[in-house]
Amino acid sequence: MDQVRIGVIGTGRMGQSHCRVYSNLRHAKFVGICDANAEVGREMARRHEVSFFREVDALLENVDAVSVCTPTPYHYEIVKRCLDAGVHVMVEKPFTETLEQAEALKEAASNGKTIIQVGHIEKFNPAFIELRKVLEGMDVLAMNFNRLSPFQGSNVDVDVVLDLMIHDIGLVVDLFEHEPLSMDAHGFAVFTDSIDYGMAILKYAPEILLTLTASRVTEQKIRAISVTTRDAYIEADLLHKTIEVHRRTLGDYVNQKNSHKYRQESLIERIVVPTMEPLFLELQDFVTCVAEGKTPQVTAADGYNALRFVLLLRDKILESRRVQNKV
Ligand SMILES: NC(=O)c1ccc[n+]([C@@H]2O[C@H](COP(=O)([O-])OP(=O)(O)OC[C@H]3O[C@@H](n4cnc5c(N)ncnc54)[C@H](O)[C@@H]3O)[C@@H](O)[C@H]2O)c1
Repeated sequence: MDQVRIGVIGTGRMGQSHCRVYSNLRHAKFVGICDANAEVGREMARRHEVSFFREVDALLENVDAVSVCTPTPYHYEIVKRCLDAGVHVMVEKPFTETLEQAEALKEAASNGKTIIQVGHIEKFNPAFIELRKVLEGMDVLAMNFNRLSPFQGSNVDVDVVLDLMIHDIGLVVDLFEHEPLSMDAHGFAVFTDSIDYGMAILKYAPEILLTLTASRVTEQKIRAISVTTRDAYIEADLLHKTIEVHRRTLGDYVNQKNSHKYRQESLIERIVVPTMEPLFLELQDFVTCVAEGKTPQVTAADGYNALRFVLLLRDKILESRRVQNKV
């Protein structure tokens, strides 16, 4: 397939970015938009000079592949319709609202005829790609994932674990092939009725501990991973796309003009991170996979695994809250 005919379903905050990227992507022919809000959809269609379709099925008749960027509760039904119509799907994270829905879609896509890619965008973040290379051969002792945001009132149809922590869980699933030995999680509500601040501890080995914090009530936007290894400390900023590697510091006494002075040397390496937009790399991968019949980097099985993981953590948080309430 030389040119993949693309549509976008749901053109809110995230869908608008998909529209922008598809308009500029090689081998993609952006042809149409569908949005339940006709005013929003028509305006986006006008801006990108593509057709607006009121009904999902009408859009599906005109495309080879779509991005599904509706709120999560609608993912299952829309993705199912896409698969039934033989249309390849890039669906935003979280894959679906429930594990049963994710399993059903994973099964439906297992015949290999249609591709499902799930929008775990951080896997395409150049800072994460470079961090992975830096960590090769290193003896990791601990990792801290921080994903903090101010409260904006968006995506409150899901809690912060499903909305934000799932990004880091997607990376954890990518980094560690096996399940953790144990996990614990806590959290609480602040501005909504669901979890607005969540924290998890995962033990992968007696000497490998991971902590994950996700917040939508913190007055600063932070997307960071820090790693303690046996001989270095690494700080990756996924937002500003920087990585610093702090090597073990050397301390010794030097003799200067007959007096002994303590001297400490620290070495900081700044890793070169390419300035590529993660969404561009993610959608480029999707279009290439559709055009060449390849398996995407984030499959339905990956989306299912990440969802299963965060739902376990969410259950732990809800359970700990129930226990607290009893006390
Ligand atoms: N990858 C990321 O970093 C990231 C960031 C933000 C949101 N998201 C995900 O993207 C999805 C959308 O989030 P958002 O913030 O853009 O939401 P949004 O509310 O801003 O936009 C959703 C759009 O979908 C439309 N819509 C709703 N139901 C529809 C239906 N049945 N058919 C067609 N259109 C429909 C709405 O009219 C709206 O325009 C969510 O799953 C969210 O988790 C991912």
